[in-house]
Amino acid sequence: MNSKKITVSEIRAMKNRGEKIAALTAYDFAMAKLLDECGVPFLLVGDSVGMVVLGYPDTTHVTMAEIEHHLRAAARAKPNALLGADLPFKSYETISDAVANAKKLAAAGAEFVKAEGGREILPQVKAILENGIPFCGHLGMLPQHVLEEGGYKIKGKQEAEQQKLLADAQALADAGAFAIVLELVTPPVAKAISEKISAPTIGIGSGPDCDGQILVTHDLTGSFPWFTPKFVKPRANCAAEIKTAVAAWKNSIGSE
Ligand code: KIV
Repeated sequence: MNSKKITVSEIRAMKNRGEKIAALTAYDFAMAKLLDECGVPFLLVGDSVGMVVLGYPDTTHVTMAEIEHHLRAAARAKPNALLGADLPFKSYETISDAVANAKKLAAAGAEFVKAEGGREILPQVKAILENGIPFCGHLGMLPQHVLEEGGYKIKGKQEAEQQKLLADAQALADAGAFAIVLELVTPPVAKAISEKISAPTIGIGSGPDCDGQILVTHDLTGSFPWFTPKFVKPRANCAAEIKTAVAAWKNSIGSE
C-alpha cells in the first residue's frame, strides 16, 4: 500500500531518485483499490477500457461520458496512488474542448489527464496546464490514430521519426508535462528520450530503459485472453481461474 498520497511531484522525484515507476490501468472501484493496496503509485483510467471492458474494436469509439463513468468508480476507491484519465478521441481537437473536457475529468476525480500527440497538440497542453490540471503526454504509437495509420506500428525505426520523437518529447516536457508515456517506441530511442528529458518516461512495449512501465491490467493478469500484445508477459491467468471457478460452482449446484 502506498503509505502517503502520491502526487505528480512524487512521480517526478522517483525519476530523480532512479526509482522505477510502476503504472497500471484501473477502470473501476475494486481494481483501483486492489492496485493501490499493491503499492502501484500511478493509476490510469485509460481509453483502453473501450477495448478490454466495453468490447470496442479500438479506442476511437470511447466517449467522454464513458471515461467519466469509469473514472468516478475508480476515484471512489480514494487511492493514495496518483489517479489520472485519458482524454478520449476527438475530445481535445480545439483548445476550448481540451480545457473543458480536462476540467470535466478533473471534476470526476482525475488528478492528471493524458492525451496523445506531440507538438501538434502543444497549444491544448499549455492551456490545460494553465488551468492547473497536470498533464501526461503520450508519444510513439498513438492508438487513437490507428485507423489513419492502418495498424499498431513500432515508432522510431527511421532517423526522421527518431528526431520527431525526441523533439516532441522535449517540447512536451518543456511545456510542463509531468510524465510522458512512450508506446511501441524502439528501445534505443526510448532510452535516448529518457536520458534527455527531465520528465519521467513511462514505457509500454518500449524496452527496459524507460523511467517506468505501464500495462493494461487485463493484459498483465490474463483477464482478456482473446488478445495479448507481444510485449506483455502475463503474470496470472485470471480468465482460466474464472472458468475453473464457474465450472466447479456449476457442477456443485444441487449437491452442496
Ligand atoms: O489507454 C491506455 O490504457 C493507455 C495506456 C496503456 C498507456 O493509454
